[in-house]
Amino acid sequence: MITSQKGTRDLLPPETRVWNRVEAVAREVFALYGFDEIRTPVFEATELFVRSVGEGTDIVHKEMYTFTDRGGRSVTLRPENTAGVARAFVEHRLAQAGGVHRLYYVGPQFRYERPQKGRYREFRQIGAEVLGDPTPLIDAEVIVMLFDFLGRLGFSALSVSLNSVGTEEERPAFIQALRAWVSSKEDLLDDDDRRRLEENPLRILDSKNPKLCEWLGDPSLPRMIDHLSKESLEHHEQLLRLLDAGRIPYRIEPRLVRGLDYYTRTVFEVTAQGLGAQDALLGGGRYDKLVSDLGGPKTPGIGFAIGEDRLVEVLPEAFRGAAIGSVRPVAVIPVGAPDAADALALASVLRRAGLAVDLASGHRGLGNSLKGAEKAGARFAVLVGENERLRGAVLVKEMATRTQSEVPREQLVEWLRPRL
Ligand code: HAM
Repeated sequence: MITSQKGTRDLLPPETRVWNRVEAVAREVFALYGFDEIRTPVFEATELFVRSVGEGTDIVHKEMYTFTDRGGRSVTLRPENTAGVARAFVEHRLAQAGGVHRLYYVGPQFRYERPQKGRYREFRQIGAEVLGDPTPLIDAEVIVMLFDFLGRLGFSALSVSLNSVGTEEERPAFIQALRAWVSSKEDLLDDDDRRRLEENPLRILDSKNPKLCEWLGDPSLPRMIDHLSKESLEHHEQLLRLLDAGRIPYRIEPRLVRGLDYYTRTVFEVTAQGLGAQDALLGGGRYDKLVSDLGGPKTPGIGFAIGEDRLVEVLPEAFRGAAIGSVRPVAVIPVGAPDAADALALASVLRRAGLAVDLASGHRGLGNSLKGAEKAGARFAVLVGENERLRGAVLVKEMATRTQSEVPREQLVEWLRPRL
């Protein structure tokens, strides 16, 4: 038997109904905020991710699905979608149109990670990016939109963790202070910490080494927020004021740096209980240099990506139930083989009127077809047989009460609709 690859999974019905509903709500809500969909390719030039996500990050260092294609190019299955959106923005010269671009995407991403609950090698993200607006108002609006979306799924007790990672100019002083602090803990560092310190010192704050982690909570740990310029601090504080006004619950998290290199100023994450060690439901932030680093005009950006697999995992039961419960309420069953064509035609009439119908093939006999309809959750079975046909009618059986009524065909839709 050939099975699916490690870290990938098949999403099967009825679970796919939940996924579809979640995505439909995302599309509805994002449209209310003026966002349009963008679809970028699943694979890109490897260099795109090296230059945007960053060479020293875990993603680029050890998690990319990279291969040489038959033409000798190095390509990579996208580990995230912000880089692709920024590349498309530059490639199609979207900046020339001016204004602010609000884009969202829904799709698979790939990271070669050790699979566990909430962590897959193929996973899906629902994300949004805004290009062309440097103000804290858009940071706040993006977060408000997120909470609007999560609220419509039924989440109520979430809060957003926030930090500012400053700009490229502001970071060296902080990194110097951080290096000095970490050097005083030299004997606690493992190989991974040493590599991080060497290649990308901010990553040390994401260390998984338990000995060092104990110390990372120490108040003596330098904070980026103390090294911000006046403008960056003002941006940060203005965002907090706007979130207060929008009644968004947040927590300042001085150690939040996020695992990607393109961030400037605002970074945020939302975590959820029930996801175990993989508790980040979503992450995002501002990236004011990414577009220009990729050869485009200076264009500020901000966005987020939600891990859809994790989101579905912790989805409130009411939303999940409603999404799964949307069954086809009417079964049309031919009584005998000669009634098949008539049953097919009648099912079409009902479907054209907007009713979802299960058409039973009838080959297992009437009794089994009725049982099948009941099991599938149908509320009414419409029996199509010769006797009724001669009278221009059908027999409708209500599954719950087992009552039967003969209904004239031309009145069937009107008869069923108020009862569903
Ligand atoms: P990220 O934090 O790398 O950010 O990923 C965002 C979310 O994707 C995570 O919070 C998590 O829920 C989900 N995720 C990541 N890896 C996995 C995995 N292996 N299995 C399941 N879910 C996973 C980004 O990707 C940025 N592009 C977000 C962003 C958009 N920043 C600005 N704009």
